Amino acid sequence: HITHVVLTGGVGSRLWPLSRKSQPKQYLSLFAGRSLFELTVARNAALVTDVIIVGNAGNCHLSTEVMVKKEASYTHIIEATPRNTAAAIAFAAFASEPDDILVVTPSDHIIEETDLYERTVEEAIALAKNNYIVTFGIQPTKPEIGYGYIEFEGSNVLAFHEKPNIETAVAFIAQGNYLWNSGLFCFKAGLYLEELKKQEPELYKYSKIAWESNVDGMLDYDLSMQIPAISVDYAVMERSKNIRVVPSHFGWSDLGSFESVYEYLVKTGHPVDDKGNISIGSTIHTAFVGVENCLLVHSSDALLILQKEKSQDVKHVYQQLESVG
Ligand code: GDD
Ligand code: MG
Repeated sequence: HITHVVLTGGVGSRLWPLSRKSQPKQYLSLFAGRSLFELTVARNAALVTDVIIVGNAGNCHLSTEVMVKKEASYTHIIEATPRNTAAAIAFAAFASEPDDILVVTPSDHIIEETDLYERTVEEAIALAKNNYIVTFGIQPTKPEIGYGYIEFEGSNVLAFHEKPNIETAVAFIAQGNYLWNSGLFCFKAGLYLEELKKQEPELYKYSKIAWESNVDGMLDYDLSMQIPAISVDYAVMERSKNIRVVPSHFGWSDLGSFESVYEYLVKTGHPVDDKGNISIGSTIHTAFVGVENCLLVHSSDALLILQKEKSQDVKHVYQQLESVG
């Protein structure tokens, strides 16, 4: 089997107030009436034989709605609580045969040039069949601190660095032999679990225990809470010796923060004033005076005013709102 593993657990806290717990960004129908989740499933459909969706109890009905509309068959793994991506991928791997190839993708990215994307994934699948853990590397354009960096030579990965600080990111860009990690991965299910067992034995053990007690794909809350919440990037990618990178040239944009939303919108013709300010969602006349590179984001019950460069910090607002309930 070649299985598309769709990760759809995140709440998109850096896109508050557009993105909410009840309506995470991947389900917003912002793209000609389709959501990023729907586009993700469609983009991979011709490449795979099976689909496994790993989401959470809070959003699984939103995934179901899309899949029912598409009349697509799939396996649904429903997390009781998010334990980050290393565990989410482990559940999909436990649900598969060891030799199954998993094409793991986030569900909240914009990808353009589908033909090129398909060819790149095919290249990755061929490498995965030869027992490599495959990453997809994007040519960086700025010292972004929200991404992982792949130090490479040809298709060899010399090192993987998840979310460096700004000084390190600047140095990586200057050196030139670094790619951004796109967040897409491809490997055999069995190889992933072997690596996880080697690198993060506790995570492996508790994911397995949680998985084995699932009821129709639904995981138990208390057992899940024992799983260390670590991302696949830290748990496996930074440590494995078995990694290859496929340099990827398709259009890629992680709408992970308002900075990337800003760039995407401006590129696609959204109005921007002569000081680089934009407003999103506002239905009343909006003017910016004496400020530069700001975003005003207006949703039905919240207003965000943000300096573009501070986009990563929006998650703190979200966390603060979470903690006060
Ligand atoms: N099912 C499930 N459960 N999915 C999850 C969970 C979880 O607990 N946590 C995150 N996800 C999903 C998110 O919804 C997203 O689609 C994907 O997994 C990646 O998680 P993010 O939280 O968006 O990761 P990131 O953006 O900080 O970093 C990753 O992506 C970057 C590129 O966008 C890393 O892989 C970086 O190295 C990479 O550069
Ligand atoms: Mg992301």
